[in-house]
Amino acid sequence: MNYENILSEISGGVAVITINRPDKLNALNKATIQELHNAFKEFDADKNVRVIIITGSGEKAFVAGADIAEFANFSVEEGGQLAAKGQEILFDLVQNLSTPVIAAINGFALGGGLELAMAAHFRIASDNAKMGLPEVSLGVIPGYGGTQRLPQLVGKGRAMEMIMTAGMINAEDAKSYGLVNHVVPQTELLEFCKGIAAKIIKNSPVAIGKAIKAINANYEDGVNGYKEEIKAFGESFGTEDFKEGTTAFLEKRKAEFPGK
Ligand code: COA
Repeated sequence: MNYENILSEISGGVAVITINRPDKLNALNKATIQELHNAFKEFDADKNVRVIIITGSGEKAFVAGADIAEFANFSVEEGGQLAAKGQEILFDLVQNLSTPVIAAINGFALGGGLELAMAAHFRIASDNAKMGLPEVSLGVIPGYGGTQRLPQLVGKGRAMEMIMTAGMINAEDAKSYGLVNHVVPQTELLEFCKGIAAKIIKNSPVAIGKAIKAINANYEDGVNGYKEEIKAFGESFGTEDFKEGTTAFLEKRKAEFPGK
């Protein structure tokens, strides 16, 4: 597919999606959100793609937020629709994708940028990264899931402080908060993420998809995560990946998962 606001490449089972509006610090406008939706859908459906890495172009920003110029004159209805549509077509989509998504935070991840990184399954930051949800400084609140996912990741008190102060934290603080898993020099960020992807790719994609679903179940209203886990655990026994994984172990060889 041809995209105007994002770049994408697939190599060795890893798709890298790069948001490419560096002159606007990769701010998420409507067109970019739609293209990201299409790219995530496309790669999730592609059996050759086993891990997706999302990052920003340039050395300055992952994503500096939703495009402020685009929504500055919105009405109450338009504001509500912006959040609802964005959550549905991108942020919830990413969180619930069965293909693992790693956010490679290569600079500013602010507002919608941090919200996108938080919708990913986990995050790695470059040492120059800065993260925050500055929406209240604009008279609005986070609308792409930030008020829900930030407390889940860093705890309620820290989330309250970050959101109320509209401040930014650096990469090391983000790591100590549990917001990012690792901090690496910017020049090594993508290779580091690809190294983690290589470890993921050795495992059963079917089991990984089920594990993502079971973990996410803990955060869904009215869903019992333990019951989801039991269901997905049982279903695993009917997969070809399970037969291969257990047979390979007993035959003392590496598993070649068919992904079924
Ligand atoms: N929406 C739209 N445009 C944005 C943007 C956003 N969220 N963030 C940055 N840009 C644009 C700037 O308007 C500027 O465009 P211009 O050159 O046409 O004027 C360009 O990106 C570069 O940004 P600039 O502010 O000049 O860079 P800086 O290094 O001085 O500051 C930031 C970097 C990230 C601190 C600053 O851009 C910023 O505060 N951005 C907004 C962050 C925010 O509030 N995000 C939440 C939105 S809900």
